[in-house]
Amino acid sequence: MGFQMVLLIPLNILVLCLQALAIGNLTSDMQALLKFAASIPHGRKLNWSSRTSVCSSWVGVTCTPDQTRVRSLRLPGVGLLGQVPTDSLGKLDALEVLSLRSNRLVADLSPDVPSIPSLHSLYLQHNKLSGNIPSSLSSKLTFLDLSYNSFMGEIPLSIQNLTQLTALYLENNSLSGPIPDLQLPKLRHLNLSFNNLSGPIPVSLKKFPAECFFGNPSLCGTPLAQCFAVPPSPISPAPVLPTKPKRSFWKKLGTRIIIAISAGGSSLLFLLVIVILVCISKKKSREGSGTPKGKGSVGGRAEKPEEYSSSAPEAEKNKLVFFEGCTYNFDLEDLLRASAEVLGKGSYGTTYKAVLEDSVTVVVKRLKEVVLGKREFEQQMEIIGRVGQHQNVMPFRSYYYSKDEKLLVYDYAPSGTFSTLLHGGKGAGRTPLDWDTRVKISLGVARGIAHLHSQGGGKFIHGNIKSSNVLLTQELDACVSEFGLAPLMSSAATPSRVVGYRAPEVIEHRKSTQKSDVYSFGVFLLELLTGKSPFQSPGRDDVVDLPRWVQSVVREEWTAEVFDVELMRYPNIEEDMVQMLQVAMQCVVRVAEQRPKMEDVVRMIEDVQRSNSENRPSSEDKSKDDGVQTP
Ligand SMILES: *[C@@H]1O[C@H](CO)[C@@H](O)[C@H](O)[C@H]1NC(C)=O
Ligand SMILES: *[C@@H]1O[C@H](CO)[C@@H](O)[C@H](O)[C@H]1NC(C)=O
Ligand SMILES: *[C@@H]1O[C@H](CO)[C@@H](O)[C@H](O)[C@H]1NC(C)=O
Ligand SMILES: *[C@@H]1O[C@H](CO)[C@@H](O)[C@H](O)[C@H]1NC(C)=O
Ligand SMILES: *[C@@H]1O[C@H](CO)[C@@H](O)[C@H](O)[C@H]1NC(C)=O
Ligand SMILES: *[C@@H]1O[C@H](CO)[C@@H](O)[C@H](O)[C@H]1NC(C)=O
Repeated sequence: MGFQMVLLIPLNILVLCLQALAIGNLTSDMQALLKFAASIPHGRKLNWSSRTSVCSSWVGVTCTPDQTRVRSLRLPGVGLLGQVPTDSLGKLDALEVLSLRSNRLVADLSPDVPSIPSLHSLYLQHNKLSGNIPSSLSSKLTFLDLSYNSFMGEIPLSIQNLTQLTALYLENNSLSGPIPDLQLPKLRHLNLSFNNLSGPIPVSLKKFPAECFFGNPSLCGTPLAQCFAVPPSPISPAPVLPTKPKRSFWKKLGTRIIIAISAGGSSLLFLLVIVILVCISKKKSREGSGTPKGKGSVGGRAEKPEEYSSSAPEAEKNKLVFFEGCTYNFDLEDLLRASAEVLGKGSYGTTYKAVLEDSVTVVVKRLKEVVLGKREFEQQMEIIGRVGQHQNVMPFRSYYYSKDEKLLVYDYAPSGTFSTLLHGGKGAGRTPLDWDTRVKISLGVARGIAHLHSQGGGKFIHGNIKSSNVLLTQELDACVSEFGLAPLMSSAATPSRVVGYRAPEVIEHRKSTQKSDVYSFGVFLLELLTGKSPFQSPGRDDVVDLPRWVQSVVREEWTAEVFDVELMRYPNIEEDMVQMLQVAMQCVVRVAEQRPKMEDVVRMIEDVQRSNSENRPSSEDKSKDDGVQTP
């Protein structure tokens, strides 16, 4: 008995010690999250339940790659209301990213949250947090956004110690006192505007433009007015030369929107958050966060949007409107802050690739010549959201509408457009586009169009099928993009470059039907088979009318000459190619009524694919084949 006691006591102590030291585990993370959810009301239901897997099915939560800890929590705009309790989120000691922005958090920020040692990004903007900014901050912080809250007191000096910090946003709070001397080598983004800061701007921050300091009447020194001048003379927004990278155009766009936002607080200009149903949550390969979000599910979700919109805080008004089911959580500001690169100028406007601060990449289309008013625009967006729900249709993630700007946001397709894949980088170093891939892509496109045609009792037309509107995922699955945009535009904006794809009746009578989509698809197929572009590129004597050219060649005799030379290196595909060519020729017959329906085209291509896999060794052997073959 006594012997056992002696043994037990140290064991107990040991266990206690271990627990005291304990770094958390997934169970403790789960408990912390459940405590958080239980103690803070939220408008949108969080589907967190102890019976389901934290890592794969809790909305807003992602885990480390080995699925042992919670790594990020993103709950923007879910209507969180109240105070973050201590000992809840602060316990997530492997957390790296926390976003609770655009909610209605109030009162002091629990100091255990910003001090989580692993935390590197903290997004709390657009809440109603007050009190002092906690001085205990994770030394790993690279991104700190506390803007648009009601923080008071001084900026804590401990910020000086955050050597990894790249972005510090504190604008629109009630901070006072001097600005600490921030000798932070990595700091690139700073905004301290609209506070009550005073005194000289430290030398270390002189390189930032005046817009970073506006709205602090007692602040002085470069880039603002001289400190010794007669006190607060109105600050002249003199042109400063900020350290601006190559994003000036984007910036200009941003400024316009910001001006619009601050100028017209009127509800007229801005959207109420109406979150629209549906949006495929597929293919969310998130650059940066190595873990997939566990969102393998395809469409079919029918969460009702009302819950969200009714609980949307006031501050949500000037925001991007997200389609339901999207897990993105940036807002307009983030988008405008993102570094952007022009991807192309299309018939409907300019397209940018935007890399957000948390390294999510999206595509932003800036529409020009939109003729619809806000209501109609929203209605059209609703249609796009509802109808475009198919794995071969590019889903829009969100949109923004104001008098001056209309933006559409969708996923970035890592493999670009089919047009670029097919025509780009000809010559040395190009990986040829093999037959299987071409068949797969054509089938994807056909299915996407067929889906659109099948919706709404058959009243939808794409109207702009072309190879540059076919986007490719990492796995080279095709997605049709730009569905639903034509009705937004004035007819003057009718694309001109699309000429080669337009059916005769569209050219002559401007009469678009589903059958004219079939025609355009036929041209697309010909392009895929011949490797030739259906419009003449300047300075080259390429064919203009691809269908006519193919017909003339084919009339002579079925000749291999029409096919892309790149395809000649693959064995045993001649028959399939000819079969595909026949499909294409049926699609481009002059008389619209004689063209097949898109669903029939899908079936025909499926036949080609089937015979393709029957005739040839299984696709696993494909690569071997490719290597061996040189006819
Ligand atoms: C997880 O951590 C909690 C508290 O830190 C502890 O009680 C529990 O035993 C741990 N579970 C595992 C599986 O390690
Ligand atoms: C919670 O929602 C997410 C996305 O909305 C979904 O992927 C997940 O399966 C849901 N989990 C449960 C338990 O319903
Ligand atoms: C910064 O870090 C140093 C060393 O860790 C510490 O001594 C100092 O008190 C910190 N400064 C602030 C303002 O927290
Ligand atoms: C930020 O503060 C300025 C000055 O108080 C105000 O004009 C502006 O509307 C504020 N912005 C927002 C989005 O609240
Ligand atoms: C701003 O700070 C000054 C002191 O520096 C104070 O007198 C003034 O009341 C403050 N203004 C606001 C609006 O808080
Ligand atoms: C900082 O925020 C203010 C207010 O929102 C804005 O007017 C200003 O342009 C911002 N500055 C920068 C550099 O983004």
